[in-house]
Amino acid sequence: MTPITPAFPALRLRRLRSSPALRALVRQAHLSPADLILPLFVQDGRDCESAIPSMPGITRKSVDRIVTAAREARDLGIPAVCLFPYTPLSARTADCAMAWDDDNIANRAIRAIRDAVPDIAVMTDIALDPYNIDGHDGFVREGRIVNDETVAALVRMALAQARAGADILGPSDMMDGRVGAIRAALESEGFGDVAILSYSAKYASAFYGPFRDAVGATAALRGDKNTYQMDPANGDEALRLVARDLAEGADMVMVKPGMPYLDICRRVKDAFGVPTFAYQVSGEYAMLSAAAANGWLDRDKVMLESLMAFRRAGCDGILTYFAPEAARLLQD
Ligand code: PBG
Repeated sequence: MTPITPAFPALRLRRLRSSPALRALVRQAHLSPADLILPLFVQDGRDCESAIPSMPGITRKSVDRIVTAAREARDLGIPAVCLFPYTPLSARTADCAMAWDDDNIANRAIRAIRDAVPDIAVMTDIALDPYNIDGHDGFVREGRIVNDETVAALVRMALAQARAGADILGPSDMMDGRVGAIRAALESEGFGDVAILSYSAKYASAFYGPFRDAVGATAALRGDKNTYQMDPANGDEALRLVARDLAEGADMVMVKPGMPYLDICRRVKDAFGVPTFAYQVSGEYAMLSAAAANGWLDRDKVMLESLMAFRRAGCDGILTYFAPEAARLLQD
C-alpha cells in the first residue's frame, strides 16, 4: 500500500473525526459480546459463593450458581465460559490424582452446564496447579518441575474433561509437547471435535496474583513458575511457541497476560492469521477496578477501551472477568 498524503489543508485528518456518524463509518475495530469468554471460579457446596478480596465484584460459586452465571452469559450473547476450580489446601496431593477424577468439581460443573445451558461453549483449564500440593502446574521431583511425566497426567486430565462434555480445552501449563499428546489422545478416544485453545504464549507474570488468591494457590505455591512460563523480556519466543502449538494440533492460540503484551498479540496475528485470543488477567481486572473504585478512572469507559485495544491489536476474542458487564454495556 502506498500512502497518498496530500499536504494541509487538502489533508485535514480531523474531518473524519468530526461527527459520531463519520467516526462510526470509518471505525476499524469492533467489539461485541460474541468476542468475549467469561472465566468462572467453581467451588464446592450448594447455593453459595465467596468473595475474592483482590477481585472486587468477582466470586467463587457453587456448581448450581455456575449454571446460573452460564445462563446469564448465554443470554447476554457471550459464547463461552472458562472454568477454574477451587480446591481446599487439604484436598491437594503430590500425585494430583483429583485432576483426572471424572467427578472433580470442574468436571461436575462442565456436566451441569452441558445439561442446563447446552448452547454455551464450555472451556477448561489444563494444568495440575489446583490439585498439586506444591502449587505448580507440573509434578515436582527433587525441586524440579518435570515435563514428560506431567504431560502424561495432563492427557488424563484432558480426557476426563472431554468425557464431561467440554467443547474447548485450554492447556495453561506450558509443558513441552502437551498439545500434541492431548490432540493424539482426543483423536484416538473419539473426541475429534473437541477444540484446543492453547495458552501458547503464557508469561511468568505477577499480574496473576489475584487469580492465585481466587483459586487458593498463593499459599500453596513454593517458588516461582519461571522454568516453564515465559520471560516477559522475550517476544520472538512467543512466535516459536505458537508455531509449535499449531503444528501439534492447537485450533486457537492465546497470549497471556493481555494489556502489557499487546505487541505479542499483534505479532502472533500477523505471523499466523489463526484465531488469536488474549487473556485480560486477574491483575488487569484488579488494577482497573481499584482505580475505578477510588474514582480515579471511569470503570465503564476503561473497561470498553481496554477490550477494544485487544481487538485493534488483532485478537479475535478476549477472556475477561468484565465479560457480563461489558456485554451489558455493548447491548445498550
Ligand atoms: C493456572 C492458571 C493461572 C491463570 C490461569 N490459569 C495462574 C498461574 O499460571 O499461576 C491466571 C489467570 C488470571 O490471572 O486471571 N495454570
